[in-house]
Amino acid sequence: MISNLKPETQEKLIDHFKTFNIEWFQSPFALSTWKTVYKVLRARKEAVKIINEALEKRKDSIEKQGDFLDTLLEEMKKEGSIFYKESIVSLLLNIGFVSRDSTSYATALTVNFISKNPRVLTELKREHEAIVQKRDDKEPGLSWEEYKNCMPFTRMVIYESLRLANLGTIIFRKAVKDVEVKGYTIPAGWIVAVAPSVVHYNSEIYENPLEFNPWRWEGKDLQSPGSKTLMVFGGGARQCIGSDLARLHLAVFIHHFVTTYDFSVVQECEICRVPFPFFTKDLVINISPKSPS
Ligand code: HEM
Repeated sequence: MISNLKPETQEKLIDHFKTFNIEWFQSPFALSTWKTVYKVLRARKEAVKIINEALEKRKDSIEKQGDFLDTLLEEMKKEGSIFYKESIVSLLLNIGFVSRDSTSYATALTVNFISKNPRVLTELKREHEAIVQKRDDKEPGLSWEEYKNCMPFTRMVIYESLRLANLGTIIFRKAVKDVEVKGYTIPAGWIVAVAPSVVHYNSEIYENPLEFNPWRWEGKDLQSPGSKTLMVFGGGARQCIGSDLARLHLAVFIHHFVTTYDFSVVQECEICRVPFPFFTKDLVINISPKSPS
């Protein structure tokens, strides 16, 4: 996002992002919570300072870095732009924050689900080994074409993992005008908290909803990031902007994971939702390069 930070500044920024979390939310009445909130606020302030300084330096520089900050500054200079200095800092801060744990949590949970379902692992291996076999040149790794057209089962696994993981626990919206819903009025100005788990774990929509069953996605649209019955990336105008990237990351990870390595789970991960998810136990796996067959 900001590619020309000095290594030590970059390290500091990453440390601030690590501190800047919402785990304190789990026990709002404990004294330790307030100490953590203080640390989080300080980390946020320091991160904003670093991003601000980078923006100020870059604003008047002629040299281009070709990164996301350059793109945002170019956008800001356009007539009628929706960007201004503060919104750029806020966007960089938010993306750094929301993208930090989301994909890695989803990846850990996916591995956890796969490890408990040998049939799924066998099918994944079959799909990805077929991709490797078909390649003329084995060196360059996964291609865009392969990602888009050769992994239907992997997409099913990703959708199913995201549905069960239900990482976006609550999505907030504000009613900008009075809205009628089934005889009730949500008055203008009210905040609405949407809980996607209500649809993700609804047995009228998903048979045996707590079961990990990628095959339930057979024949369904697996290109779009969601629908009214799958809100893992939220929905509407504020839908997650990282949904394509996150699914790509997961697919690339699965490809290398099942074609290059053998693994066994040493400790399963456990997730706690209070209401935002965080791991109470990390996933621990033994991983080794695949023995040549
Ligand atoms: C599996 C991984 C991810 C999940 C489950 C996830 C989920 C979500 C959800 C539920 C929302 C709220 C959407 C709404 O209010 O309708 C959201 C928003 C957002 N996500 Fe993600 N996300 C993931 C990965 C990422 C990544 C990798 C990025 C950045 C590269 C990202 C950037 C954002 C941003 C910037 C927003 C705010 C969008 C806005 O308010 O307009 N997310 N995400």
